[in-house]
Order: sequence, then C-alpha cells, then structure tokens
Amino acid sequence: MQKAGILGLGCYLPPKKLTNSDLAKIVETSDEWIASRTGIRERRIASKEVATSDLGVEAARLAIKDAGLSSEDIDLIITATITPDMAFPATSCIIQDKIGAKNAACFDINAACSGFVYTIVIAQQFVNSGLYDHVLVIGAEKLTSIVDWKDRSTCVLFGDGAGACVVGKSEDRVIVSSFMGADGSGGHLLSVPAGGSRLPATEDTVKDRLHFLKMGGNEVFKIAVRIMVEAATNAIKNAGLGLDDISLFIPHQANMRILLAVAKRLGVSQDKIFMNIEKYGNMSAASTAVALVEAAQENKIKKGEHVVLVAFGGGLTYGASVIKW
Ligand code: ACO
Repeated sequence: MQKAGILGLGCYLPPKKLTNSDLAKIVETSDEWIASRTGIRERRIASKEVATSDLGVEAARLAIKDAGLSSEDIDLIITATITPDMAFPATSCIIQDKIGAKNAACFDINAACSGFVYTIVIAQQFVNSGLYDHVLVIGAEKLTSIVDWKDRSTCVLFGDGAGACVVGKSEDRVIVSSFMGADGSGGHLLSVPAGGSRLPATEDTVKDRLHFLKMGGNEVFKIAVRIMVEAATNAIKNAGLGLDDISLFIPHQANMRILLAVAKRLGVSQDKIFMNIEKYGNMSAASTAVALVEAAQENKIKKGEHVVLVAFGGGLTYGASVIKW
C-alpha cells in the first residue's frame, strides 16, 4: 500500500477583523464575557462580494505552490464546507475552474467542523489505493453568511477563513492512522433548519430566521469534550502509539474552555494543545485546516514527531488523525 502524506500546506484569512468590542456595538455582549467564556478576542470577516470558494482558492493556490506542483497536477479536489457558494454546483467545482485544475475530479463533503479531518482521511484512501497521486483537500467557510447577527449566544463565536493541503505519495508528514464517527441523534443540536428539502425557503422561513445557524451551546460543550478525547485516543491507539508519543494536538477551535477540558481529561499539559482561537474564533471546517498550517509555519512540529488532528461538529460528527511529521 502506498503511504500518503502532506505535500504542501496553505491558508487564507480575509483581512478584515471584527473584535469583541466591535460586536458589543451590535449585540448586548462584552469583550470580557466573550474572552472569558470562549477565549476569542477577534475573528475575520469576508466582505460581502467574497464567497467560500474565493477563500478556498487563495488557500489552495498556496498549498499547491508549497507542494511544488501546478494546478494541472491535481487529480481530485475535495472541499469540506457547510457554507458552500450555493446548493450546487459543488464549491470544489467552482474552485477547480478558478485555479485551472482541469484534470481534477471534484466533490464537497458536509461534516461541519469535522470536515477537514474527514477529508484528510478520504484523500488518504485515494492515495493509498494508488488511484490518485495528488488530492487537494480544502476546509473553507464563510460562516458569517449563516450567523444570526441578532443572536448573541452564537454570533460571537464564528469567523471566516480557509486552509488547504495537498495529499500525495510521501515518506514525510505521513497520515498514519485515523478514527471517524458520528451520532446523528444529536443533529438537532447544531443546524441551519431551513433552505433544504425539509423546509424550502419561504417568506415565513426567512421571517422566522430559520436560515441561520442554531446551536444548543451547553449540550454541545459537554459532548464535545467527551467525543474529542475518545476520537483522539482511538486514533492514537490505531497508530499503535501511546499519549506520550504525541508531541502536539491540533484540535478544532470551538472554545478555549473545551480545549482546556480536553487537555485535562487526556492528562496532557496545555502547551501540547495548539490554539489560535483568540485570533479567528470558530471557522468550522477551516479551523483545523488553518491550525495545522499555522502550527507547521510556526515550527511547532519537528521532523519525526507525531501530531494529532482532532475535531467534532454538526451532525454530530467527530474524527481524529495521527500524522508523523
Ligand atoms: N454575551 C453576554 N452574555 C451572553 C452571551 C454573550 N455573547 N451569550 C449568552 N449570554 C448569556 C446567556 O443569555 C446566559 O444568561 P442567563 O444566565 O441570564 O440566561 C448566560 O450568558 C450564560 O449562558 P450559557 O449559554 O450558559 O453560557 P456558557 O458558559 O455555556 O457559554 C457557549 C456559551 C460559549 C456557547 C458555550 O456553551 C460553548 O462554547 N458551547 C459549545 C459551542 C460549540 O462548540 N460549537 C461548536 C460547533 S459549531 C459547528 O459545528 C458549526
């Protein structure tokens, strides 16, 4: 079986920042409340004319360049997103056209915040099997397009961004093992209720604000801690490793308190948990992608070390991957 690894990485964050103090002018909240409950200080906001594919394109170009490839070398594009440009065509197809990856097949996956981890595992299968040489994996979101700016319990949490990597045959940065799971019975805890076949758009769905993200924050919090620990532990076990073999955990950035609770439950020190939530908030599928790129760019991972990507999100979905750098 062909080993699959990460050949190149890239990320893109829109330049406009929205601070907690800016948000306090929109809803009844404060920098103190948001920072102490979530760890978030600011998030990036894409401008009105920018869609998720535009963010993905920027990250994709950087990842392809970092891999020393050209767009025409890409065999498959998989974009993880819950904020596609539109219901169809797939955002991957739109990105393919924009970057000129004319030899690539394309599809999107919807696994919410676990999307990037799921997509890494999917890409690994195509490379392992020998079907494809270069799979472009993208986590991209314009979450501010589905956030209800009148709901202070959710609008303070989310931001926009994109991260990407090229997965291909490699002896470095090898995807060693993974674990994925889901619990559909918790789907109602995180959703955008309208706009699909169950509740197509009507004047009433718009009036009732059903096209915006809804979340049962407290329930999600508790499940998140348990499930991230379980996913990470299983992926590490599947790699034949122990906790002491892991030099860095790169988790989905939903809430700093969730990450600290995960560290405590795993029994690892906080400095083993990569965090950038302070700068970006929760970017769903883009969060883990951007965190991986930044951890690499900041030289937080040395050659030969094992890192764990771990995420949970709407679905409910969860997953983890061990990568040997
Ligand atoms: N500013 C000020 N007060 C607020 C705000 C705000 N932005 N939001 C809520 N409050 C108030 C509430 O109204 C409540 O007031 P009350 O006690 O008078 O009723 C009080 O603060 C406490 O609210 P809680 O919801 O209990 O606050 P909690 O400490 O649980 O924090 C939070 C809420 C941050 C949402 C937390 O539950 C959380 O992070 N949950 C997990 C969310 C998550 O991980 N989502 C990820 C998935 S996203 C995806 O998949 C797309």
